[in-house]
Amino acid sequence: MSIFVTGGAGFIGSQFIRDAVRCHPTELIINFDALTYAGNLHNLAPVADFANYRLVKGNICDENAVLAAMPDDCAAVVHFAAESHVDRSILSAKEFVETNVLGTQVLLDIARHKRAGRFLHISTDEVGGSMEPGQWFTEDMPLIPSSPYAASKTAAEHMVRAAAHTFGMDAIVTRTSNNYGPYQFPEKLLPLAISNAMQGEPIPVYGDGLQERDWIHVADNTRALLIVLSKGRRGETYHIGGKSPLRNLDMLKLLLQVTGQPESLLTHVTDRLGHDRRYAVDCSKIERELGWTPEIPFEEGLRATVAWYRDNQDWVQRTRSGEYRKYYESMYGGR
Ligand code: NAD
Ligand code: TYD
Repeated sequence: MSIFVTGGAGFIGSQFIRDAVRCHPTELIINFDALTYAGNLHNLAPVADFANYRLVKGNICDENAVLAAMPDDCAAVVHFAAESHVDRSILSAKEFVETNVLGTQVLLDIARHKRAGRFLHISTDEVGGSMEPGQWFTEDMPLIPSSPYAASKTAAEHMVRAAAHTFGMDAIVTRTSNNYGPYQFPEKLLPLAISNAMQGEPIPVYGDGLQERDWIHVADNTRALLIVLSKGRRGETYHIGGKSPLRNLDMLKLLLQVTGQPESLLTHVTDRLGHDRRYAVDCSKIERELGWTPEIPFEEGLRATVAWYRDNQDWVQRTRSGEYRKYYESMYGGR
């Protein structure tokens, strides 16, 4: 049997594949990835030679490519592929609708046609919109996304649930909070701040920096995903959180302590348009039903992540060159 993974060359997908090839040694793990700016085959170097791993380069919006790549004995589809960065969705939303909505629908259609097994759809806590102080996002709350990114992920979720309801597909949705860890492309706050801190460069803080996010180590997330894949209840949604809520400024001050850099690197810049103030995911359902809980305390995970970036300077330099540099300069060059 095979597990068809989309977006496996990205940050979370590559952690999932590095784990899954070991956890599922008798199954073929197929990584279907378009290798956009966010896809990096170096992320898969540790498993590239495994006999049960295969890469297929292709776009999830391309029906013929998906049809050719998805095997007939597909036990599960694990769908990570997405445009994933909020700031990019503010610059241009079209790619987000294409990949996140249309691409998801193409996968659903072909998975149904091929009679694939479980469809595990990876979503985000951002679909719930900004939470008020003291409010926690639970699985049954209405979806009120604010950013174009979150809106496209919400639309994708609706198509997944519609396919499950209409055609009886075995689909599950997971929504996770802000992941951090090794191999994360340095456009998201934490890897950007780590690599800037290591170079002694300013760290951009949007607005007042008092926005709150919940941080989860990527390995805790993929451990949850493997449990949901094998034991999750058909048709359900599960929230996966790190139980580590922090305001951006507090998180960055901790990072500067860990890296031994001065707080003067923190540089307030113009706020993100429509910036969500607080995400806070309630993950008690997965704890209660499937016995999963996050195990990596934030400070321990942060220290390990900083050490990884320090030990993998080649990876950092490669990803910070080329197309990334152009994007970074267009975002921060004028500030
Ligand atoms: P990422 O941006 O690091 O990687 C995305 C991957 O998808 C890349 O390998 C890219 O090449 C591939 N891809 C993009 N468009 C594609 C297309 N049209 N066809 C095929 N492949 C394509 O993303 P990530 O941070 O690893 O996030 C993975 C998933 O988890 C996404 O669905 C995202 O919405 C969700 N998520 C991420 C976070 C987070 O903190 N990173 C939090 C919650 C949810
Ligand atoms: P990000 O990593 O983009 O994740 P998300 O917006 O999806 O939660 O941003 C995390 C938080 O950090 C968010 O409140 C925006 C803020 N932020 C900055 O202050 N500076 C930055 O350079 C970036 C990229 C984000």
